[in-house]
Amino acid sequence: MALIREIDYGTPKKTSEAAVTLEIDGKPVTVPAGTSLMRAAAEAGVQIPKLCASDNLEPFGSCRLCLVEIEGRRGTPASCTTPAEAGMKVRTNSPKLAKLRRGVMELYASDFPPDALNGSAGVNSEFQEVAVAVGLGEVRYGLAGRNHLSSEKDESNPYFTFDPAKCIVCSRCVRACDEVQGTFALTIDGRGFASKVSAGDKPFLESECVSCGACVQACPTNSLLEKTVIQRGQPDRSVVTTCAYCGVGCSFKAELRGDEVVRMMPFKDGKANHGHSCVKGRFAWGYATHKDRITKPMIRAKITDPWREVSWEEAIGHAASEFKRIQAKYGRDSIGGITSSRCTDEETYLVQKMVRAAFGNNNTDTCARVCHSPTGYGLKTTFGTSAGTQDFDSVEAADVIMIIGANPTDAHPVFASQMKRRLRQGARLIIVDPRRIDLVKSPHVQADYHLPLLPGTNVAMINALAHVVVTEGLVDEAYVKERCDVAAFEQWRKFVAEERNSPEATEAFTGVPAADVRGAARLYATGGNGAIYYGLGVTEHSQGSTMVMGMANLAMATGNIGKKGVGISPLRGQNNVQGSCDMGSFPHEFPGYRHVSETAVRESFEGAWKVHLQSEPGLRIPNMIDAALDGTFKGIYIQGEDIVQSDPNTQHISAGLRAMECVVVQDLFLNETASYAHVFLPGSSFLEKDGTFINAERRISRVRKAIAPLAGKADWEVTVALSNALGYPMHYNHPSEIMDEIARLTPTFAGVTYEKLERLGSVQWPCNDKAPEGTPVMHIGGFVRGKGRFMITEFVPTDERTTGRFPLILTTGRILSQYNVGAQTRRTANNVWHDMDVLEIHPSDAENRGIKDGDLVSLASREGEITLPARLSGRMQPGVVYTTFHHAMTGANVVTTEFSDWATNCPEYKVTAVQVQLARHISEWQEHYRQTRRLTTRIEKESTAND
Ligand code: SF4
Ligand code: SF4
Ligand code: FES
Repeated sequence: MALIREIDYGTPKKTSEAAVTLEIDGKPVTVPAGTSLMRAAAEAGVQIPKLCASDNLEPFGSCRLCLVEIEGRRGTPASCTTPAEAGMKVRTNSPKLAKLRRGVMELYASDFPPDALNGSAGVNSEFQEVAVAVGLGEVRYGLAGRNHLSSEKDESNPYFTFDPAKCIVCSRCVRACDEVQGTFALTIDGRGFASKVSAGDKPFLESECVSCGACVQACPTNSLLEKTVIQRGQPDRSVVTTCAYCGVGCSFKAELRGDEVVRMMPFKDGKANHGHSCVKGRFAWGYATHKDRITKPMIRAKITDPWREVSWEEAIGHAASEFKRIQAKYGRDSIGGITSSRCTDEETYLVQKMVRAAFGNNNTDTCARVCHSPTGYGLKTTFGTSAGTQDFDSVEAADVIMIIGANPTDAHPVFASQMKRRLRQGARLIIVDPRRIDLVKSPHVQADYHLPLLPGTNVAMINALAHVVVTEGLVDEAYVKERCDVAAFEQWRKFVAEERNSPEATEAFTGVPAADVRGAARLYATGGNGAIYYGLGVTEHSQGSTMVMGMANLAMATGNIGKKGVGISPLRGQNNVQGSCDMGSFPHEFPGYRHVSETAVRESFEGAWKVHLQSEPGLRIPNMIDAALDGTFKGIYIQGEDIVQSDPNTQHISAGLRAMECVVVQDLFLNETASYAHVFLPGSSFLEKDGTFINAERRISRVRKAIAPLAGKADWEVTVALSNALGYPMHYNHPSEIMDEIARLTPTFAGVTYEKLERLGSVQWPCNDKAPEGTPVMHIGGFVRGKGRFMITEFVPTDERTTGRFPLILTTGRILSQYNVGAQTRRTANNVWHDMDVLEIHPSDAENRGIKDGDLVSLASREGEITLPARLSGRMQPGVVYTTFHHAMTGANVVTTEFSDWATNCPEYKVTAVQVQLARHISEWQEHYRQTRRLTTRIEKESTAND
């Protein structure tokens, strides 16, 4: 695991089919037309010294280090900006070139801190390496002249420092911010000797910078440098792994010094991120070794007792005997388990296997219940597969991008950057969202249409868009005839053509002017490749599944499925929510989305697992909670989920857990759910184990162990131990053996092995004999289910209605710096950007209530009441308020309702009727929370734990 050093080819790869052959230092080299001489040389193994060039940035030609000689031409052109031409004879090294380069370096060095140049500062830089490569000796000009050495450092960002004394104004950081991240936060201010990097003339922390770190990565001089590198020193080894935050699934090199992580460096060969990252993956990993980590198993008889630290054997033995006791007393179905979308595929697979084989029932569910279960249902019904249709790179061929109910710049930032790049190249943009999200207008990106619909009216909107397509003759008739179930299409065509589905008729529900809806529909249908990206603003509704099918209908009707640049792509929230669904976490499906009632499938699992399996679906999470309150469900094993904070109607969830006799929680921290637990099993972070995650584009990527598990066991080992203690033996030496079992039993994973993942980096399922190297784009040539199936999508308004008492609609979501329930990000410096949840409210709604920015307000629904500070925001439309659920103390889900998707029970987080008023003190629930949390998290430290 030596430090992996990736080659920097200096300029981006060209994809032209035409090739040119030239000679570099006497060697023939063939490259695609348009390739720079610098890249052509690097591909031939010749590294030309450079400072301002990098292969993720367009060439700039400012540093004058990369000079070459070309036979028959005068002068010494810069190789980074000179394209290769057929027949050229290029020399990269000569006494003249060496002298010129040394001279350039000498000038730079004369204004550079000597300790940073000679390496005594302890951290290497590209600048130093180039100095050595060009043979920089004595610096003739010395440091006595004008220089920048006393320029003040900017330490404002919690994660990196900016030391202008080391800046050579190469502009790589500025270009990375523009070209890679698309934020345009940096500029070069001033001219000549006075020119300097500026974050809008403000400290970095106060600027537009989103701390993605692309500038830090780009900087060749360590002028911009991670603070952890300064504190911990030069890394000496690295391990390639996958980010454990969002569903983009970025690849990283965890760079370590000894056993300590020094930094996370986005991996250039990562196929989901191509070397880019966001603030969470790159910087917010400190939670993994935070002092709050629980590293000893603990048990207690009552939830009001303090926790008692015990050995792994005692904790697991106790949990198993409790589960057995409960089943003996209340029956086989009285216990269940919840798998984690943050854990690996292998771990998730084992939890559902343990529930089905050791518990003997199908009471397994996952957090996808509360996010993307409608995606699974809707896409399976219409296309035949419960997953998105495209890879991320597909967006590069999209002509019209429609974003529905998603906020990619906050929730899926690296994909948002890729999308913004395509938009800057000219793709058109339609945004369907109640809020004016950043993409509606950001630097060099402006939506052609923003349809700010009222929460809860998605289906009316999709029907209206389809109405325009059908009634204005915009259907791709040939596609539909060839690829879809024509009878179902004709029924659907008739349905959406009805006047009640027109933009004019639905305007009454959606609040969006009919002309805008018509314009957007025409653009999507006629603008070339149309790609739909969506998020929880689609699924978390009482008609979430209907909306997913509505989008599928629209895409099929316009021929926008089955090739690059089109498709229906869910932007999945958690790192492995796709994987947890794929691995059979749902109560009705085995791995690979096969129903438990299918005899042949069940028999294949029975044969492999050597146990009888139930053919009836088990309980979903809401059913488990209801059954607990009815007294029939008494024990639960929850791995890496915090249902008390993340699921709707917190009081209901807490009451359900309180009614159980044995709650086993496995997590990194004493989360909110652990307040109701009797057994706590320490979890392991992504840095501490091997396995795989599956991202939103069905990409299976390796997670690799970088440090030893803090508590001594990886999560999969804990499940194995629990299953063994329950009397159902499991034995695996390594997660690769679990993947082998998954592949044997799951046709879409049949070709997946760890060896293949090592070789290819990652693969997208289906991966089997038909597609041995995976499937980037699905439904090419035909739908997985055969013919694409149009579904009737009648708009049924939610039962959650605004009234005089609750006149506003609350919708919830997340922000860039925090993640989900915040358990990880709240234990990092990301809190500087968001240390509390706030209520975004339109200024007119605020004024009507006498509310000013920053006032404490009460947010009350039919379910409960919380208080939080108000933030006046023009991003909101009047009548709609918004908050996040990242902080437990806020308790956003105290107010959300139990209404849910008709097909999957996915909660309707996005529509809650509320009232907002000025508040004098925190709510009763928050006061109660404050007191009980203290009581339920006490740990008796004088334990005799022996491991
Ligand atoms: S901060 Fe670094 S990357 Fe930016 S201009 Fe200065 S030396 Fe170049
Ligand atoms: S975009 Fe998602 S996967 Fe990538 S670094 Fe950020 S949080 Fe991690
Ligand atoms: S690397 Fe070519 S001019 Fe700087």
